[in-house]
Amino acid sequence: MKITTALGTLAFAAFLATNLASADELNVICSSEQDHCDLLVRTFEDKTGIDVAMVRKSTGETLAQIRAEAGNPKVDVWYGGTGDPHIIAAGEGLTRKSGVNTDDLLGWAKNMVDITDGRSIGIYAGALGIGYNSELLAQKGLKPPLCWRDLADPSYAGEIQVANPNSSGTAYTELATFVQLFGEEEGFKLLKKIGKNVNQYTKSGSAPTKAAARGETTIAISFIHGMVKQAVAGFPIVAVSPCEGTGYEVGAVSIIKGTKNFQAAQKWVEYVLTPDAQALAAQVGSFQVPSNSNSKMPPEAPDLTTIKLIDYDFATYGSSETRKRLLNRWDKDVKPASK
Ligand code: F6P
Repeated sequence: MKITTALGTLAFAAFLATNLASADELNVICSSEQDHCDLLVRTFEDKTGIDVAMVRKSTGETLAQIRAEAGNPKVDVWYGGTGDPHIIAAGEGLTRKSGVNTDDLLGWAKNMVDITDGRSIGIYAGALGIGYNSELLAQKGLKPPLCWRDLADPSYAGEIQVANPNSSGTAYTELATFVQLFGEEEGFKLLKKIGKNVNQYTKSGSAPTKAAARGETTIAISFIHGMVKQAVAGFPIVAVSPCEGTGYEVGAVSIIKGTKNFQAAQKWVEYVLTPDAQALAAQVGSFQVPSNSNSKMPPEAPDLTTIKLIDYDFATYGSSETRKRLLNRWDKDVKPASK
């Protein structure tokens, strides 16, 4: 009788520990910029009283971590980063439906919900482009690149920086964009030629633009909103929307399957979809287009309707097989071409 009571007390204590913890804490991986992630965490904690432990990781790195932790996740929510790896995580059963209301979201954000059967929701959008340091370019007597094909010109040898598509969602968007714009054979040929001019493949997608701002590289391939951030901060960065057209991201938020903090995770998702939370991004120079139709578009945000966007095929490039095949080919054909 006594043993039964003791066991009952222990079980109740364990139940309480799990459920109290679930109300008060949340583990977030954030694949947006560090300052944007920090601001969201701080304001969410103030609003809800829920403690957040957050790490910033690039999109491809996050997918790798979530895969490695499948079944025993240490992360509750994945915020930000390009959409394709979120779609892949949904397809591999690594994330779960949030059940959060998405009625106020724009079409491209709802499309993310449809493709993933409710497992990912679009939070922002941004177009890919070419950025250059206008002072360095002039000093070196180089012509401003206007098109993707221009980047293969030997005059740019050692002048271009871009991320590695294995770790970076930005660079995977670039890879998928080239394949969609030029076809797989021609796309890889062009990436290889451009690779001869690449001085470094970075881990994070925004690193090349920051390096261009500091004068460590002349040209960066990355998202245009990141270039605007550097220009607004006073650096001589010019953003170019390539003449052939370009791809874009739909950044996403997903709840990890097996989370022990589902209610807190749901609150996070609800929060990041509100116009108030989306307005914070511009305060720290994150100028993506927000997904809530009631959010104010920051005046600095690149106007996607004026950019020649491709009809990006999220279903195809958000499939595990396609990503694996393209990354293997990039590792074999493109990476070794750089100096
Ligand atoms: O942090 C800004 C940003 O450009 C986001 O818009 C994008 O989702 C993310 O970076 C991608 O980061 P990475 O290329 O490092 O995965």
